[in-house]
Amino acid sequence: LQARLTVDKSFVISAIDKRIYGSFIEHLGRAVYGGIYEPGHPEADERGFRNDVKKLIREIGVPIIRYPGGNFVSGYNWEDGVGPVEERPRRLELAWRTVEPNEVGTNEFMKWAAEAGSEPMMAVNLGTRGVDAARNLLEYCNHPGGTKWSDLRRKHGYEQPHRIKTWCLGNEMDGPWQIGQKTAAEYGRLAYETGKAMRLIDPQIELVSCGSSSSAMPTFPEWEAVTLDHTYEVADYVSLHQYYGNRDHDSANFLARSMDLDHFIKTVVSTCDYVKAKKRSKKTMNLSFDEWNVWYHSNEADIRIEPWTVGPPQLEDIYNFEDALLVGSMLITFLKHADRVKIACLAQLVNVIAPIMTEPGGAAWRQTIFYPYLHASRYGRGVSLQPIIDSPKYDAQDYTDVPYLDSAIVFNEENDELTLFAVNRHLSEGLPLTCDIRGFEGYGLLEHIVLHHEDLKAFNRAGEERVAPRRTEGTVCRDGYVETVLQNASWNVIRLG
Ligand code: AHR
Repeated sequence: LQARLTVDKSFVISAIDKRIYGSFIEHLGRAVYGGIYEPGHPEADERGFRNDVKKLIREIGVPIIRYPGGNFVSGYNWEDGVGPVEERPRRLELAWRTVEPNEVGTNEFMKWAAEAGSEPMMAVNLGTRGVDAARNLLEYCNHPGGTKWSDLRRKHGYEQPHRIKTWCLGNEMDGPWQIGQKTAAEYGRLAYETGKAMRLIDPQIELVSCGSSSSAMPTFPEWEAVTLDHTYEVADYVSLHQYYGNRDHDSANFLARSMDLDHFIKTVVSTCDYVKAKKRSKKTMNLSFDEWNVWYHSNEADIRIEPWTVGPPQLEDIYNFEDALLVGSMLITFLKHADRVKIACLAQLVNVIAPIMTEPGGAAWRQTIFYPYLHASRYGRGVSLQPIIDSPKYDAQDYTDVPYLDSAIVFNEENDELTLFAVNRHLSEGLPLTCDIRGFEGYGLLEHIVLHHEDLKAFNRAGEERVAPRRTEGTVCRDGYVETVLQNASWNVIRLG
């Protein structure tokens, strides 16, 4: 086995939009209640938000957080979540069959997101509601004052507008599970009219048109073609959602799933460009991959959860080591498409299919997937370079010619740093790798970080981080070449400068 990789400053894919390291907090399970918000917890601030959770989010560096859903938003009345907390209604929440106490709403979230170092990405309800509720919410959030909804915000104690820039026009509107599911034509018309009204209020905002709920939907990619035909002029992004699982216990196949992700992105790009051509438009539609992750471990447990409680433990996947490898490969895939993928949200952030978990009254801790996410966010800022990869390959159940080496390269000119992200998909053998970086004169090795565990199914728990990154020795950088051996089944961050 031997892999080769060539990097050059002039092989530019695109500047990386830092929002590809975004995440997601939905009113679902213990994400809000018992997650970011737990009044009475020793780490809670004066408003009930856990400082230890904020600290972990800041450690990752999460530039944007989508809110308040997800499926939740399609039944949400935003007015329930503003104003004096004691006057807010408790509601049946139909998407997840819980009770929503509305103790946390738009204003609390905006303040919390700023404290966590993030900007918000807000979604409007296009399931049970439409143009009117969306325009009122935008007026409430972004208009300075002197009108009904903006003055209500000021009365609620928020003198300054929130100035929310990025807005999702609904969520997964093609899904039969969605409250107020729509056909492509129904959604396209509603999203266009809603976006049009919103832009009249605030021309600075950016809008995300709903794409298919996943590439497996029977209507994909016709949904994109039809809805974008309506929304092309008003929207800036189309959304993509995708979750993977290893239900057949076939790890070689599971680690190849990022090839499916790559194909999905290429198909959506083609569909956007088809609509562009059809409309003779000069505008290029970008992609917001606003839900992505591994999600399958908790599926069975969720069936047994009692309905109509506040903050039940829903979607609490405990991630193992191989999940972290696929999450790493998914991040690599976004970097390889940095020219079109401008936003991506790891779904989700706390307790619900999340890198960060909390114990009620106890600790906050890092799941295995925390680490590739942190590394990409921390070292993956700058310009994405196209690596020329020569790697041995394997065939898996659903994919042929899967390169053992999956890699993306980031050049940060400001810091004078070059970072190689690499996954060795080989489950049992190390992969010798030679990288030609002769274009980066004078660069030497800063560090080689590796995430590896001999047990693909190893997982972390509170107070016990079995899967954690370490620095590895043995990698050398000499005369413009990096020589290393990527450990079997490993996530690698090779930093040069
Ligand atoms: O992230 C969990 C759920 O997955 C979201 O609410 C929904 O949009 C998707 O189906």
